[in-house]
Amino acid sequence: MRDAEPFRIGLLGHGTVGAAFADLLSARADAVELAVGRRPEIAGVLTRSRGDFEDILERSDLIVEVIGGVEPAREYILKAIRAGRHVVSANKAVLSRHGEEIYDAAREAGIQLRFEAAVGGVVPVIRVIHETLAAAHVDRVHGIVNGTTNFILSEMSRTGASYADCLAEAQRLGYAEADPSDDVSGRDAAAKMAIIARLAFGAPVHIDEVPHEGIEALAPDDIAYAEELGLALKLVGSAERVAGGVAVRVFPTFLYAEHPLASVGGAFNAVTIESEAITEITLSGPGAGGSQTASAVLGDVISAMIPPPSAPPPAVPQPLVSDVESAFYLHLEVADRPGVLARVAEILGLQGVSVKSVVQRGLGDNARLVMVAHPVLESRFMAAVGLIGRLDFLRAPPRVIRVIEEHF
Ligand SMILES: NC(=O)c1ccc[n+]([C@@H]2O[C@H](COP(=O)([O-])OP(=O)(O)OC[C@H]3O[C@@H](n4cnc5c(N)ncnc54)[C@H](OP(=O)(O)O)[C@@H]3O)[C@@H](O)[C@H]2O)c1
Repeated sequence: MRDAEPFRIGLLGHGTVGAAFADLLSARADAVELAVGRRPEIAGVLTRSRGDFEDILERSDLIVEVIGGVEPAREYILKAIRAGRHVVSANKAVLSRHGEEIYDAAREAGIQLRFEAAVGGVVPVIRVIHETLAAAHVDRVHGIVNGTTNFILSEMSRTGASYADCLAEAQRLGYAEADPSDDVSGRDAAAKMAIIARLAFGAPVHIDEVPHEGIEALAPDDIAYAEELGLALKLVGSAERVAGGVAVRVFPTFLYAEHPLASVGGAFNAVTIESEAITEITLSGPGAGGSQTASAVLGDVISAMIPPPSAPPPAVPQPLVSDVESAFYLHLEVADRPGVLARVAEILGLQGVSVKSVVQRGLGDNARLVMVAHPVLESRFMAAVGLIGRLDFLRAPPRVIRVIEEHF
């Protein structure tokens, strides 16, 4: 017996995620109807060449936005919210730029706004921070939130091949796009960390306020030396409460083998959430892919069929701190002559940098000094590196990578 009205979904976008969502919905409609009491069905599909947005909106209870990019996605999301429709989006680009406008509109309209697939694909980062941990005071989140770069770094570590060769392999296997710049520059991860920080700390964070560095300049020998020091190299997004505010950043970072993110390989994503109340939770899984992402989108649709909770509460502006303490890896190519290590140590010491471990290798007339420094304010470490970079015995510019020291 079927007496409840169907739950009508307007699908904006029918690409990798949109098409997979339509397939998954038809496969799972019976199960959803059994669980929720209403049968979800597609009321209309919008692409560049078919469908009319206003017409689809009129006929829908909920809009799924999987177009991507900023406009017209932002305009459609806001129109849907203001028309009182629930919205599910996978769009990190729009939320990391216009999150506040969208969250405000959603709260005002009293509709459900859900966006699990915008961060970490099917890994339930948003739900866990926003709902499961709503009572915990989150202190810090570290994330591997870009599968493309994690695949490339895993390949560099596994094979010893160059960045360029591993990028080409990632493109051949479909893990990287023909234009990989958003991924390899760290900008994609920066957008996701802006969204995470907003949810974890309630602070409005725009993607342009997230300092980020990519993986293009990393060399295989950084990875090889680091392995001797017990370190694994990852592109890590960090969002944390620090003295005076909140720090949100994305950098190539070394992790000790015991860190939960150190062993996350291939195209996987993983996020570690730290809070005094819960110690630490790590979530990991596939960060992208049509069917995986579609499953996160359908999960959001089902949640919206059973209200509330909804959009994040109002943001409280907090200072964004960029000069924070970190441990560092420093790689130096120097002339192999007496006094070099002592001079480097002296400069580091004058800036208050203390060295935790050192590896030294002879290379004919030259030598390679690779060291890990204890946590120190970034400005002080960089000041020391600036001075070291000017020493006459240096044979190449110093290479610096941040290190996360936590062990759990
Ligand atoms: N792919 C993934 O693995 C993945 C993972 C997590 C999150 N996401 C997010 O999911 C969203 C969709 O990604 P995708 O990979 O499915 O993208 P996609 O394959 O490029 O598909 C985009 C769809 O949107 C439609 N579209 C683009 N511009 C439009 C416009 N102006 N008006 C109407 N329709 C328009 C396209 O229409 P045509 O068919 O006419 O070109 C296409 O159907 C993005 O926000 C992305 O960041 C994707």
